[in-house]
Amino acid sequence: MDKMLQIENVTKSFGGLSALADVSFTVTQGQIKSLIGPNGAGKTTLYNIVTGVEPLTEGTISFLGQRIDGYKPHIITQRGIARTFQNVELFENMSVIENVMLGRHARTKTGVFANALRLPAARGEEHEIVNQSLELLEFVGLDQRAHEDSSGLPFGLQRYLEIARALATEPKLLLLDEPASGLDTAEAQSLCELILKIRDTGVTILLVEHNMEVAMELSDEIVVLNYGMKIAEGTPREVQDDPEVVSAYLGDEAYA
Ligand SMILES: Nc1ncnc2c1ncn2[C@@H]1O[C@H](COP(=O)(O)OP(=O)(O)OP(=O)(O)O)[C@@H](O)[C@H]1O
Ligand SMILES: [Mg+2]
Repeated sequence: MDKMLQIENVTKSFGGLSALADVSFTVTQGQIKSLIGPNGAGKTTLYNIVTGVEPLTEGTISFLGQRIDGYKPHIITQRGIARTFQNVELFENMSVIENVMLGRHARTKTGVFANALRLPAARGEEHEIVNQSLELLEFVGLDQRAHEDSSGLPFGLQRYLEIARALATEPKLLLLDEPASGLDTAEAQSLCELILKIRDTGVTILLVEHNMEVAMELSDEIVVLNYGMKIAEGTPREVQDDPEVVSAYLGDEAYA
């Protein structure tokens, strides 16, 4: 199977603290892979590095066979990696559809500025962007709310909107950072269905998730981080039975 994302010997230091220490793993095309671990394990830091928001200290990251470490975030978006954020980051003074359109502009030829200035080349594209954005909203079940203010959406639906915005960049790989956090059981279940539906459209998924039921249900493979180190990798069953993983989680609960 094709390797999509290769994390090789990645270390990230913040002063004296190693948020990631010599972490290596691969995400294969078409799979749902999860990255789990106690608070502070380095999961979000890894996303920040893969998306070019933070530089790495050591190691390499390759996407579809090409190095991407050191590239700017918008280049990495154009290569085909999109993400959502642990604490939903929407443009609050924009409508639901405008949030999706902004994701779409990251992908178009004329770009955000030509569109903002309504330059002629942008007008035809704009129409297409509206239609594509509506389709994406329909895909996540938000098309009826396209023209509402995004900040007025219930929290669970804001998570869906953020996913739609990420999909608007036409990613090959989608990084989700705790998409089920703050959702009730029913909402988490419909999120699982949405994630599977996204995978079925051909998008590979890397998932950071604290909700074990969600991670176990969805993942083809799981990587476990603890204090910046990879302590286990395997199928959900293999990881669940791993003594080091059990002790990392029990230890975490004991101190929580
Ligand atoms: N910009 C930063 N400057 C200094 N330290 C940081 C920075 N970002 C993260 N850290 C530290 O790096 C470590 C890993 O943090 P990270 O946010 O990646 O953990 P996480 O696995 O996503 O945790 P959580 O499950 O709580 O979201 C933590 O000790 C955190 O305090
Ligand atoms: Mg995090």
